[in-house]
Order: sequence, then structure tokens, then C-alpha cells
Amino acid sequence: MTKEIPVITIDGPSGAGKGSVAAIIAEKLGWNLLDSGAIYRLLALSAIKKNIDFENSELLTEEAKRLNVEFIPQKGSEIRILLDGEDVTGEIRTEKCGNTASKIAAILPVRDALLQRQRDFAKEPGLVADGRDMGTVVFSSAAAKIFLTASAEERAKRRYKQLKQKEFNVNLAALVKEIEERDLRDTTRKVAPLKPAEDAIVIDSSNLDIDQVVQQIMQHIDLV
Ligand code: DC
Repeated sequence: MTKEIPVITIDGPSGAGKGSVAAIIAEKLGWNLLDSGAIYRLLALSAIKKNIDFENSELLTEEAKRLNVEFIPQKGSEIRILLDGEDVTGEIRTEKCGNTASKIAAILPVRDALLQRQRDFAKEPGLVADGRDMGTVVFSSAAAKIFLTASAEERAKRRYKQLKQKEFNVNLAALVKEIEERDLRDTTRKVAPLKPAEDAIVIDSSNLDIDQVVQQIMQHIDLV
């Protein structure tokens, strides 16, 4: 029998801080990291580049199977992401890629086509997996499951700050609206909707900084 690889899942809506928290915990433990949202974003970017209709389930599923991506860990917790050999680390973070990813992620055969690709990240000595359905679907027997959330206003404020720092011209009210729309789509879709696994611990990060969230998760892992 193959030895079971320990997995910690961190699920939640966008902007709750999952990405940063997952990267810090993976680095602390010396474990592998799966940013599953990046895989959906890569598929979205590939579809945009190839002009694939976002409602064409068949073509999108083919593209999901063929997707040629590489995750190259850098110093610290940074990861360089390549699509067909091209560095798209920054390009996949745009609002357009995020919104397109959220749309195509609602298609069941697309999700199925990406399932094994995600499970393959579970390698020795362990995996921290960040996404929407890590604890409910992809790694449903994970040892520790976290659901990290925060109010839509707080998540929009964080995003606003990030975008302002990059000197993008943004509007806070429009961001709140966009986040609420994306939440609604992610939580109400028929397949793998965003929700805490029954055995997940829920952490609301609205009034916590990243270090406090990391501390709470590390304490929880100690108890598992
Ligand atoms: O975490 P993120 O914002 O990078 O994810 C982008 C979109 O991908 C998100 O709106 C929904 C989808 N997604 C998903 O359906 N399942 C996952 N495990 C991760 C992301």
C-alpha cells in the first residue's frame, strides 16, 4: 500500500488571505504548495489567448487536459508560473482572468479534467492545498481542513489597497460588487460549490492579520 501523504487544505472565497497564508505555512513546514486557483486561471488565460468560447464545455475540457503548465518554486515562498513555456505569473492575476476562471470553473467536465493534475501535487513530505474545494472534493480525506473567510467589504478593501499600490485606477464600490458577484457564482454553482467541509475549522480573518491567521492554523495542526 502507498503511504498516505499528509495534506492541509485551506479553502475560502477570494481575498480572504488563503494564498499568503498557505504559502507561509508550506514554507514553515517545508511542504509542497498547491495554488489550485492558479490552475483555473491558467486555463482561463489559455482560453482567452486562443479565443475559446467560455461556454464551449467540450473545447474547454480538451484545453484543460492538454494544458501545459509548470510551477517553479523560487526563493522564499514565491512561485513562477509558466504556460506553454511563457512566464505568466503576473498575467494570470488580472481581474479578467479571475472572473473568467470563476465562469469556466462551474463546468463539471472541466473540473474533472483538472482533478488528477491537482492530486499529483501531493508528494512527500506533505502538501498545503489552497482553493475552493480542496477539503470537500480534491483532498476530502485531508488530515486538517481550514475554511478561511472574511467579509466582502474587508476583502474588497484589501484588493483595493493591492491594486492602488500597483497604481491601477480602481473603484472600491465596484470591487465590492465584483467580489459579491464572484462569491455568488462560486457558492451557488451546482458542481463543487464553495462551502466549508463538514470537518473544517472556520476562521474569519476580517479582523486578523496574516500572522494571526497563520498562528491559529499552526495551533490547530498541532492538535490534529
Ligand atoms: O483563488 P483564485 O481567486 O485564484 O481562483 C480563481 C477562480 O477559480 C475562482 O473564482 C473559482 C475557481 N476555483 C475553483 O473553482 N476551485 C478551486 N479549487 C480554485 C479556484
